Amino acid sequence: MRLLIHENQEKGSAWAAKYIADAINRKAAETSAPFVLGLPTGSTPLGTYKELIRLNKEGYVSFANVITFNMDEYVGLPEEHPQSYHTFMWENFFSHIDINPANVNILNGNAEDLEKECEDYEKRIEGAGGIDLFLGGVGEDGHIAFNEPYSSMSSRTRVKTLTEDTIIVNSRFFGGDVNQVPKLALTVGVATILSATEVIILAFGPKKARAVKEGVEGAYSHTWTITGLQTHRHGILVADEPAAGELKVNTYKYFKDIEQAHLK
Ligand code: GLP
Repeated sequence: MRLLIHENQEKGSAWAAKYIADAINRKAAETSAPFVLGLPTGSTPLGTYKELIRLNKEGYVSFANVITFNMDEYVGLPEEHPQSYHTFMWENFFSHIDINPANVNILNGNAEDLEKECEDYEKRIEGAGGIDLFLGGVGEDGHIAFNEPYSSMSSRTRVKTLTEDTIIVNSRFFGGDVNQVPKLALTVGVATILSATEVIILAFGPKKARAVKEGVEGAYSHTWTITGLQTHRHGILVADEPAAGELKVNTYKYFKDIEQAHLK
């Protein structure tokens, strides 16, 4: 696993955006097959989305031949609800880039048969040729997508019950009212994420310090699903200084030394 500790969130976000744009451009130079990009919601990726929008408007990268798959969606929120992940993605990213709306895939949390929706989503990913790069954030308790603690590390897309901790953390988007937060979500599994050719997880701010510590120094365990990244051949964790704040000094120095050249 690589760990890139950037000075701040802005630099980490810019690095991730450039990395993604370069990966899209590299594939476009090699083949006409679309680039398949896995995407998260949350406050963490906002800077990366802003920078990707800028790179798109500047002509550095095009999303015309990119297919996206989002990580998760709440169950039961209408698509047009301000806090649905559909709304979030269109407002913060898709409306501002040259993506073909037909290439956007987001789980339907209002599907009549939720299990079938999840199975179909896996098939759609497979049909697109698999995910080239999955970008993700991490919850304070180390969850990736909505793979809460004790999710199976071999899980695939499915219905998940949200933990009380996640409901409390996410209630900030629902006027602070935990009762407004959906109790269920559809989410890609840990194995769905780790099946991508490349995985980048972003972690910014002191609230993510414990998740970064467990993700890097902790033992592989379903207790912290982020530790699944340790088993990926091309896993990259992008942190800022506050998120790296609970690492041992030696761990911190090790990654700073070996990654120095990439921290631009
Ligand atoms: C939610 C999402 C995750 C996200 C996490 C952290 O639980 N399902 O994909 O990583 O929140 O959110 P934030 O980036 O706002 O801290």
